[in-house]
Amino acid sequence: MSAITPADGPVAVTGASGFTGGHMVRELIHHGYQVKACIRDATSWRGQDCIQYLRKLPNVEIIDGCDLFVDESYDDAFSGCSAVFHTAAVLGNSADGKSQPKGTGSTSQDTYNGGLEGTRNVIDSMNKNSSVKRLIYISSLAAIKSYREDLPKGYEWTETDWASDGMDPDTWEKNAYGKSKADTEHFINDMADASGAWDVVTINPAMICGPVLFKAQVGQWVEQLGRIAAGLETTWVPEHDMAFNIIDVRDLIRVQRLAAESDIDHKNTHGGSRYLMQGCGGKSSLQVSTDIVNIIQEAFPGFVLGGPKTERDGKAVEVPMDAIYDCKKAKQVLGATLRPVEDTIREVIETSIDLGVITPQLKN
Ligand SMILES: NC(=O)c1ccc[n+]([C@@H]2O[C@H](COP(=O)([O-])OP(=O)(O)OC[C@H]3O[C@@H](n4cnc5c(N)ncnc54)[C@H](OP(=O)(O)O)[C@@H]3O)[C@@H](O)[C@H]2O)c1
Repeated sequence: MSAITPADGPVAVTGASGFTGGHMVRELIHHGYQVKACIRDATSWRGQDCIQYLRKLPNVEIIDGCDLFVDESYDDAFSGCSAVFHTAAVLGNSADGKSQPKGTGSTSQDTYNGGLEGTRNVIDSMNKNSSVKRLIYISSLAAIKSYREDLPKGYEWTETDWASDGMDPDTWEKNAYGKSKADTEHFINDMADASGAWDVVTINPAMICGPVLFKAQVGQWVEQLGRIAAGLETTWVPEHDMAFNIIDVRDLIRVQRLAAESDIDHKNTHGGSRYLMQGCGGKSSLQVSTDIVNIIQEAFPGFVLGGPKTERDGKAVEVPMDAIYDCKKAKQVLGATLRPVEDTIREVIETSIDLGVITPQLKN
């Protein structure tokens, strides 16, 4: 039996200075766990900002020096732990991406290696600690959704889909992030089978948004929502208009905890041991320049808003909105619940203002 409870001992969270990792630590503490919060570098501004936040929480032990690129750096962190929540990843768009650690120096190569080789490193440390019963791995919708063009309109993406399905190998090879997540999922499933001591549950979230707990969490999609509210153009994807598939971080981390605590045989559920987490308040996607801007305008009518570029080379950008994403399996099997996306977006912006991350421009 691999399900865990707080009585089984501490749990570890990798990437505790990140958006999902920081929320995961808090969720686990609220549910009675002792948490070993793994951070990469306590001297970096992200490390310091995260530590300042974590020190306010009870039952947290901060473990410094946990680096995906450094062998054995998770050995001490996992000692005595019943489960590992693996949220750390090398991403090109975390808060202040410039201060992100480098392996080779190439963002795409480091993204891939940080996923696969970094997770191999994490698993090597798990295998040295016989207390570990379960790995909760945070993959992505990017490991499910492919860019093939032969699918019917209104296709619903589910846990049985793999982003590599039907893809031209050369194109797939260039998708460093999606390939990293898909290859790592296959790898951890094989390693869990080989281990026999621990099993794995993978969660595949869409774009993770929600309240910001500390400044080092502001990157990715949260940063882009903040830019719109601050009257600025969006930058790192989407500079141009696109569809957003949002999951609230609180709904996500709740499911990650429930997956760890569930005694369901995850491997034999439909699509295997993986759960898509996607919300958007009952819609599949939201178009940034219309749906998202309208939600922000309604919540903050006094703000001058920014947004994405809606034209490319003089032509309107077309935003395909016909694919369907849901999290039916997570709802049915794990009891996932989803809060209204309007609340998620509003709280991103409110907390970004409270923390001094953005300064809105007021209408006269
Ligand atoms: N954000 C999304 O919308 C989204 C969507 C789907 C899936 N995901 C996945 O969800 C997970 C969490 O994403 P996030 O957006 O919450 O992350 P994030 O806020 O960008 O944080 C990334 C975390 O990974 C750590 N990290 C980076 N390089 C590392 C290394 N070499 N060694 C150890 N730790 C390292 C960072 O530590 P430092 O602070 O020291 O750099 C930070 O704690 C990732 O696996 C991501 O791929 C994210």
